[in-house]
Amino acid sequence: MVTRRKFLHTAAAAGGTALAAFRDDGMRRLAAASRAAEGLSPAEVAEDEDYWREIQQAFTLDRTVINLNNGGCCPSPRVVHEALKRYLDISNQAPVYHMWQILEPNIETVRRRLAGAFGCDPEELAITRNASEALQIAQLGLDLRAGDEVLTTNQDYGRMLDTWAQRVARDGIKLTKISFPVPPKSLNELSDRLLAAITPATKVLHFCHITNLTGQIFPVKPICDEARRRGIRTVVDGAHAFAHFPFKASDLGCDFYGTSLHKWLLAPIGTGFLYVRRELIETLWPLTPAGESRRKDIRKFEEIGTHPAANHNAIAEALTFHDGIGIERKAARLRYLRDRWARRLGEHRQIRIHTNLDPAHSCAIGTVQVVGVPTPAVVEQLWARWRIIATPIRHAEYEGVRVTPNVYTTLEEVDTFAAAMEELARKGAA
Ligand SMILES: Cc1ncc(COP(=O)(O)O)c(C=O)c1O
Repeated sequence: MVTRRKFLHTAAAAGGTALAAFRDDGMRRLAAASRAAEGLSPAEVAEDEDYWREIQQAFTLDRTVINLNNGGCCPSPRVVHEALKRYLDISNQAPVYHMWQILEPNIETVRRRLAGAFGCDPEELAITRNASEALQIAQLGLDLRAGDEVLTTNQDYGRMLDTWAQRVARDGIKLTKISFPVPPKSLNELSDRLLAAITPATKVLHFCHITNLTGQIFPVKPICDEARRRGIRTVVDGAHAFAHFPFKASDLGCDFYGTSLHKWLLAPIGTGFLYVRRELIETLWPLTPAGESRRKDIRKFEEIGTHPAANHNAIAEALTFHDGIGIERKAARLRYLRDRWARRLGEHRQIRIHTNLDPAHSCAIGTVQVVGVPTPAVVEQLWARWRIIATPIRHAEYEGVRVTPNVYTTLEEVDTFAAAMEELARKGAA
């Protein structure tokens, strides 16, 4: 504590110019804040506004808007964005040399570091442009015959469901979507429902690690273990999970895992990865075909033609920023921010929280409904009157506003949202 206070005091006393220069250095701010927080538990740091002020200042944001849609894609911290721009500048000197010869080979550093963070072998991890591409490689690359069944849920991501629907139309496979309660009472309820729907024709289970609609976390391991026992492949949609809350590949046990890195890792827009269990690499067809010599090589999934190296190389800087905070601290802060609005609004008679707030069930993402007021009108008013960005969720079985703060979100922003929702609940959105 003393160290942190001393640090802040010293920084403030250094005067305007020095402080401004210091602000340009997000990494140093992060390192200093981390030193000051040494010895504190993640829960203690989650409530330490001095620490998070340093993180907030590491971004170049527009604070005239309150961005509570970090589930879409996120701003990168300044250091990451600077790296992206730097690599773009380098590329543009003589791209065939600077981009292909100098920058592109360094993708291997990114692969090694991502694999370390995810807990798999680098030879099992392909770097993609987003979660859609990663998941579609698995969805479209698996050999399936007419009549084979893919089992998923009706709360999986639309594009991924559309991808399976294309295989229904093209290959004659069968797609079964189960429903599950929102919020569920227990994690077993989720695994039981999915596993109970398996039939002799089921060849693939596809489900979210954490859903984008309500932020429901799934019990991935028991589902994947049972599927594996029955010879069923598992495709896990981790678009929102990686770098959001702590886990490793060994906690999942899935065959294929796709994630975005422009969401919770705060990497540049246009980054993601695909994990493929090593023994399945050979038989999974790539979306963009590669030469025969690459048949067993995870890099066969990266044969997309000419593309910027800047985006994927700047992932390394995002990992460094992420490691500087630490996943335990980050998850604790995200839950702290989510609980701050959700527990307050949960008290309100006219407000329904669709997310189970138990840490085993959720983290940053929460979905909330003003009962009796159409969700699009709520979202419209949040923007028009308070400049709050949030996204409407309209599912056949429920609706609400999805709220996703991030590490740069301030308590004042969260409180403004909560107060706005209370007013809309009280007066309506007219
Ligand atoms: C659950 C889920 N899966 C997949 C995706 C696709 O991610 P991307 O747009 O990064 O490809 C999203 C995007 O929001 C998502 O929420």
